[in-house]
Amino acid sequence: MNSKKVRQTFIDFFIKKGHKEVASSSLVPINDSTLLFTNAGMIQFKDIFLGSEKTNLSRATSSQKCIRAGGKHNDLENVGYTLRHHTFFEMLGNFSFGDYFKEEAIEFAWELLTKEYKIPEEKLWVTVHINDKESERIWLEKIGISKDRISRLDEDNFWSMGDTGPCGPCSEIFYDHGSDFEGVPPEEGQESGDRYIEIYNLVFMQFERNQDGKMKDLPKPSVDTGMGLERITALLQGTNDNYKTDLFAPLIKNIAKKIGTNDLTDPSLRVIADHLRSSCFLLADGVSIGNEGRSYVLRRIIRRALRHAYKINPEADSILSQLANGLIADLKDTFPELSKQSEIIKSSLEEEERQFIITLRQGMKILEDELLNLSGDEISGDLAFMLYDTYGFPLDMTLDLAREKSLSVDLKQYETLMEDQRFRAKKYSGFDSLIPSSINIQKSSNFIGYEEVSSESSILGIFQNGEEVENAQEGNFVFIFDKTPFYAESGGQVGDIGSLRSAQGSGDILDTKKIGDHFLHVIEVTKGFFSNQDKVFLEIDTEQKKENYF
Ligand code: GLY
Repeated sequence: MNSKKVRQTFIDFFIKKGHKEVASSSLVPINDSTLLFTNAGMIQFKDIFLGSEKTNLSRATSSQKCIRAGGKHNDLENVGYTLRHHTFFEMLGNFSFGDYFKEEAIEFAWELLTKEYKIPEEKLWVTVHINDKESERIWLEKIGISKDRISRLDEDNFWSMGDTGPCGPCSEIFYDHGSDFEGVPPEEGQESGDRYIEIYNLVFMQFERNQDGKMKDLPKPSVDTGMGLERITALLQGTNDNYKTDLFAPLIKNIAKKIGTNDLTDPSLRVIADHLRSSCFLLADGVSIGNEGRSYVLRRIIRRALRHAYKINPEADSILSQLANGLIADLKDTFPELSKQSEIIKSSLEEEERQFIITLRQGMKILEDELLNLSGDEISGDLAFMLYDTYGFPLDMTLDLAREKSLSVDLKQYETLMEDQRFRAKKYSGFDSLIPSSINIQKSSNFIGYEEVSSESSILGIFQNGEEVENAQEGNFVFIFDKTPFYAESGGQVGDIGSLRSAQGSGDILDTKKIGDHFLHVIEVTKGFFSNQDKVFLEIDTEQKKENYF
């Protein structure tokens, strides 16, 4: 069954079962600053699940474009290493908004898989949440699956869209590709190898998780499901390698031809194919290439693809912009946005390739030469830092290459050097003494930096030398705001810097740190004053923001 038919069969089945077909939403979540990208079919329905959007819709079905790169669901680093991970993929889904619940969701899934897709029952395994006796009973009694083909898992069977939002226990269906492949039936916290592959996730949406991590009941129990088109297509085309399906094989052939290799099994071809798809779809949905939030993830994806093209052929040039034409032509019927935005897609890729190619070649040459003399299995932080600092060669590239060669990178040393550099750049003046040791503010800061580089915010707290105060005049302070676009220092990424102003005062934001749910802005008040509860305008200095990694 070709992939178009697989997609259509799913949609038609659920239309037959009373669902309305809903078009895929954009990869950029609309009105949702908590999320980097649309990472599941349910995202466009989030407010319906939460009860804040009223609708007559009770059942829906869709094939949703998704990106899983950065944020909670991140597969970027897996691409190339497995046969099934993608940064861009399509998620088929059926949804119930306070209509059917566990029983019908499970029955629909079983009927679709075994009757429409004609998958032999004995190839299917299921998982349920350890406390979800009802789902287990339905699988046993209604479906008749045997007890030894049900795994009971805990956290692995609890699905959340992000740190906050709708969530609930889930029941997953796995396909057994047979004893030719290595792997074990689903177990808590275990990758099940290449043999047992998860194909369909039925999420029983029951809760909303808030910023403080507490969960409350949703107004109506609902159903959210997800089935990766690429995986189910692979299965129905008799392979467990998504890259061998009609969704990828022709693309991989084109890439190999363009780069000049006959080895179609080279994992770098998978990386380029996957990353080319995500880049084209992100550009089509209006994401530009840059150094902030989504734009930076897009840049990382493109550069990772370019490094893999270099790996196959160091002379390869403008590969992505040239390959984009074929991809757009192949997919334009299903995704008209690609041809509508084809000029932007091609010119953006071309510009990024032009800018990055010299850095890439220079950096790779130095790194490869250094690796020839490497003793031990660790790349020094010095080398990684020198490559970044002197040649602009991103740490991402060094890390990716290191992983490929089973080497590690001394990140601690790299971070120390980065910190020293920031120390010099910011004329560091002992911010640590400004940071409060505890914060007695109930409301947490809402981070909106995936969407915005500026915001109108209110001051929730002012600290001087670690003590809470009511006002701030010229000098150094720490401010907490109700919402902020400023990214806080974490895991190697430096905190944002910028400015703030209000009717009475202005100042610079010298650094951003995080304690618990609070974003702490190190402020130098340069003019006037600020008081607790003041409304202020915050703006990130995007020029100064350095290229970081997550
Ligand atoms: N929303 C269900 C899933 O992503 O698996």
